[in-house]
Amino acid sequence: MVAKTSNPLVRVSHLNKSYGNITALLDVSLDIYAGEILAIVGDNGAGKSTLIKMLAGVVKPDSGYIKVREQTYPYLSPTKAIHLGISTVYQDLALVDCRDVVSNIFLGRELVYGGLMVDRRRMEKQARQVLDKLQINIPSLKTPVGLLSGGQRQGVAVARAIIQGGNVIIFDEPTAAMGVQESAKVIRLMQELARAGMAVVVISHNLHHVFEIAERICVLRHGQIVAVCKASDYQPNQIVELIMGVTPITTDGIGVQKDAAN
Ligand SMILES: Nc1ncnc2c1ncn2[C@@H]1O[C@H](COP(=O)(O)OP(=O)(O)OP(=O)(O)O)[C@@H](O)[C@H]1O
Ligand SMILES: [Mg+2]
Repeated sequence: MVAKTSNPLVRVSHLNKSYGNITALLDVSLDIYAGEILAIVGDNGAGKSTLIKMLAGVVKPDSGYIKVREQTYPYLSPTKAIHLGISTVYQDLALVDCRDVVSNIFLGRELVYGGLMVDRRRMEKQARQVLDKLQINIPSLKTPVGLLSGGQRQGVAVARAIIQGGNVIIFDEPTAAMGVQESAKVIRLMQELARAGMAVVVISHNLHHVFEIAERICVLRHGQIVAVCKASDYQPNQIVELIMGVTPITTDGIGVQKDAAN
């Protein structure tokens, strides 16, 4: 595990978002560190996707800011987020099923030679290097991704994020609808990424997986952070209580946001 530096890679601060009279996020502040897996949990509608969409540049906050490497932004665009090294692996993975592995990994960022011609050989070489490093077993890079297993598809999406140069990788429900073996592979992949020094943020409803991988757990309820805690200090039932609202939001002890940004 890469030692956690005192400076967060990304800091979100006092983010707010309302849709009409629905408050999706209320004064959310959170730090994201290199080399760490941070889980975001909460009931349906708690604001998890809204929060990560702000990091991905897909949703614009009403107020608050996002700080990446000491630069402050009121909001990000998808291009800006990728440029800053923030990649998101969505549940639907946004892959083009009829195109092969290499084409998907380099989608929109194809390598060219002579200014015009797609450099397929160089793309294949780089794709293979990244997949090997991630220990993702895909026998042929010419396979259309629609024919791959869920875990392999997840791997292609992650390889794309890495080729884009990401150092923060966000997963929205990566193991939902996956079997035991495939889930185990995706979990190992996230652990590899954190070990390599990346910041990994994962939204999950599966507390078993959360406790297996996360160093810190951020609990959202009705758009507010009710706790950011070290996983090793908590039992799953305590997290369930925080998610369900059994534990009141207090200013001391359990339920306190422990790393609130200023
Ligand atoms: N585009 C939108 N228009 C209106 N309301 C929205 C929009 N996006 C999100 N919301 C609302 O904001 C709240 C938070 O939604 P969000 O998708 O962030 O929840 P979530 O925690 O990801 O839930 P789930 O676990 O079900 O995916 C919900 O009440 C949702 O209905
Ligand atoms: Mg969601």
